[in-house]
Amino acid sequence: MSVVAVIGAQWGDEGKGKIVDLLAEKADAVIRFSGGDNAGHTVINPGGEFKLHIVPSGIFYPRTACIIGNGVVINPRVLLEEIDNLKAKGVHTENLHISDRAHLIMPWHILLDRLDEEKRGPAAIGTTGKGIGPAFADKTARKGIRACDIIDTDTFRLRLSSLIENRNEILTRLYNAAALDFNTVFQEYSAYAVRLAPYIKDTTSMINDLLESGRNIVLEGAQGTMLDTDFGSYPFVTSSSPLAAGACMGSGINPRRIDRVVGIFKAYTTRVGGGPMPTELKDEVGEYIRQRAHEYGTTTGRARRCGWFDAVVGRYSTNLNGFTSGILTRLDVLDEMDTVKICIGYKIGGKTVDRFPADATALERCVPVYEELPGWKVNTSNARKAGELPRNARRYIRRLEELIGCHFHIISIGPRRDQSIVIKNVI
Ligand code: GDP
Ligand code: IMO
Ligand code: MG
Repeated sequence: MSVVAVIGAQWGDEGKGKIVDLLAEKADAVIRFSGGDNAGHTVINPGGEFKLHIVPSGIFYPRTACIIGNGVVINPRVLLEEIDNLKAKGVHTENLHISDRAHLIMPWHILLDRLDEEKRGPAAIGTTGKGIGPAFADKTARKGIRACDIIDTDTFRLRLSSLIENRNEILTRLYNAAALDFNTVFQEYSAYAVRLAPYIKDTTSMINDLLESGRNIVLEGAQGTMLDTDFGSYPFVTSSSPLAAGACMGSGINPRRIDRVVGIFKAYTTRVGGGPMPTELKDEVGEYIRQRAHEYGTTTGRARRCGWFDAVVGRYSTNLNGFTSGILTRLDVLDEMDTVKICIGYKIGGKTVDRFPADATALERCVPVYEELPGWKVNTSNARKAGELPRNARRYIRRLEELIGCHFHIISIGPRRDQSIVIKNVI
């Protein structure tokens, strides 16, 4: 039995969907534990290409229980659309379960997310506009509506009427926006409740039973370490914790049960949205990576900012999460480079530092210090063993391992399940 947490080690979009789909073959359960439909996880397997936002990436294995944990905020409309799309492609969802403790994204969350962003003007975070921040803020402020709250019509009516009034005051008085109509929201969400009810259950007990019977569990992270509210590039972060510690909070699994923590690292860096990104390349190299790797957001379609691998971020991420394995993805994207660079430190105001600073302004000003390695100029996408990788690619991998402080146990050299070099089993 093993419980494996799969964590985004950078700014998200590292390829978590591909890796969870790969690992799920041996998993009895896959649990999404944070974020909401701000996530976009791409899975390409023999069934086709899928973009998952809320449904765990283990859904393609009918015997794997796929649990949307208590730490996820759910937009019921998006979830139902996702279920319908999967069914239309022949993927069954009988193995899907929703935590009764998961909070719901309500219409005011989406409105407030967008209105807040407009108000921020040039300092906008560049959120996905899915209502994530306001939904997590309400959860913490004890003004949320959970999955269990919509199943019983009377309970839902009461909860909604007490909350919508307060939210409408904010919408109309603070933002000059139109008020939401109680009946419209009530009817819309009551209809969702009917369809979602069969999936909503006490997943905390379910997970405990899985643990007691020694099952393999994969905890599927969303976002990435640098988007963590506490440790990321605040305030340009998301509103839940993508860290290994967040996996416990968002699933109900205690820390002693987690056997392995796997960090997913892209072979370079990308970021979507605003905020500092020290290794961003605003030149033709950045544009080359974006085009070659098709670096456009899975959820919003926005162009992702691209840059060299940042080992300051990498080491910070290893320390915060305690990675027992790393997985390096998208190595093939760098196949044609003459040389590859790795950021090993930041120059800030005349000093060179190798720690990730808390201050976003200092980060904006910092100049990356690079180490340059020779490229390999060989197509790696058909390699299936580490020994089949070109020498310079192996050298690049070894150097990254030294700098970030953990070994890569899988190297991914293409988006398909089979385009993976497994050096050591992580589950
Ligand atoms: P996630 O949010 O971490 O699941 O990542 P996304 O799905 O948003 O973005 C990762 C993208 O990289 C997707 O389009 C994947 O199909 C693709 N991908 C994953 N691994 C590899 C790889 O090793 N090589 C290449 N070329 N593409 C990959
Ligand atoms: P996956 O799981 C990349 C970013 C947004 C924005 C910031 C806050 O696919 O890796 P939010 O809507 O969460 O309030 O936006 O976080 N962001 C992501 N970036 N991948 C993601 O998820 C992301 N989820 C949120 O772009 O900068
Ligand atoms: Mg993504």
